[in-house]
Amino acid sequence: MTMEARLRRALILVSGLSSGLTLAGTVVMVSLGFSDTLRTLGRHLAPGILPALVTAVVLGAVLAGAGAFALAWWLARALARALTARLSPFVAFSRRIAAGDLHGRLPVLESDELGELAWALNTMAGELQMADRRRETFLAAVAHDLRTPLAVLQANLEGMMTGVLAPDPERFAGLSREVNRLIRLVEDLLTLASARAGALAIARRPQDLAALTRAVVERFEPLASARGVALVPAVPPSATGSVDPDRIDEVLTNLVSNAIRHVPPGGHVKVSLALEGAIAQWTVADDGPGIPASLLAHVTEPFVRGDSERGRQAGSGLGLAIADTWVRAHGGKLVITVDSGTRASVRVPIAPPWPA
Ligand SMILES: Nc1ncnc2c1ncn2[C@@H]1O[C@H](COP(=O)(O)OP(=O)(O)OP(=O)(O)O)[C@@H](O)[C@H]1O
Ligand SMILES: [Mg+2]
Repeated sequence: MTMEARLRRALILVSGLSSGLTLAGTVVMVSLGFSDTLRTLGRHLAPGILPALVTAVVLGAVLAGAGAFALAWWLARALARALTARLSPFVAFSRRIAAGDLHGRLPVLESDELGELAWALNTMAGELQMADRRRETFLAAVAHDLRTPLAVLQANLEGMMTGVLAPDPERFAGLSREVNRLIRLVEDLLTLASARAGALAIARRPQDLAALTRAVVERFEPLASARGVALVPAVPPSATGSVDPDRIDEVLTNLVSNAIRHVPPGGHVKVSLALEGAIAQWTVADDGPGIPASLLAHVTEPFVRGDSERGRQAGSGLGLAIADTWVRAHGGKLVITVDSGTRASVRVPIAPPWPA
């Protein structure tokens, strides 16, 4: 049954019921309240006049009831049609969204419930459109990042097969670097896809978070000193908390490697850890040029990277996306700000109750 028919039926029922009740009330009132008066009146009137009078009154009441019912039926139909007519643009809009057309928007004409519904549907269409664009950008970036090293490999192999290029060890070393780059990209993509699909769970266990942090810093010391960058740890002697050490290591590794890569020689990278009750806060702060403002708002989305990062030796723009995913998997938050350099702060709960 259509909504219009349901509305019509409900309205007719209500008006029919109220007309019926009024009629019944009138009959009861006349027969109870005026019976004595009618009997007295009957004694003074010529015979046959009183029954005719009563018949006329009852007939009039029945006719008025039928008229009221017909009017109610007509009004109910008009009202139901007007209401469903207001809904039809919503139905058409939802059908367009279901068919993949996300460009249209509903006019928000009134501030009633239907106005709110129009606003909510428009917001949903906007979100879907943004997700669609993100997916297209993501696919384009994956295709581009896979195609470039593959094209290099193919050109080199063809050159060697036709004898144009000499198959010397340096060439093979270069090709091996391209293959490694491809392997890393595919692994990063797999990690990101699995973690986002919830397929990679975190395995918390009690850890010395201070030792974990110092280990990351020590691993980067040779690279930092080779680049003339001072790596400064600010870590308490010991700090126990329950985290997935491999994932937190991965997060810190990405933040520290980003900082060392972007800070010019003579710059500083400070890695600190502080416990605030059941929360551990890591901060990696550098005094480099800072993440460009155009990137900052969505730097944790996959393949978002600076223009200077598009060379073949540069990163793929997945590091912060993966870091953000692991921090969220811990029920924590990664916040990146830019002031005099870049400051990445990771807040993670390290004791139960764990966030849902
Ligand atoms: N400390 C920093 N200082 C300046 N820019 C930064 C810093 N950290 C990140 N960025 C910018 O943010 C972009 C995204 O960083 P992200 O770690 O996600 O990717 P990546 O380092 O380019 O590649 P990957 O980590 O996958 O090897 C970088 O390309 C860079 O432009
Ligand atoms: Mg990185």
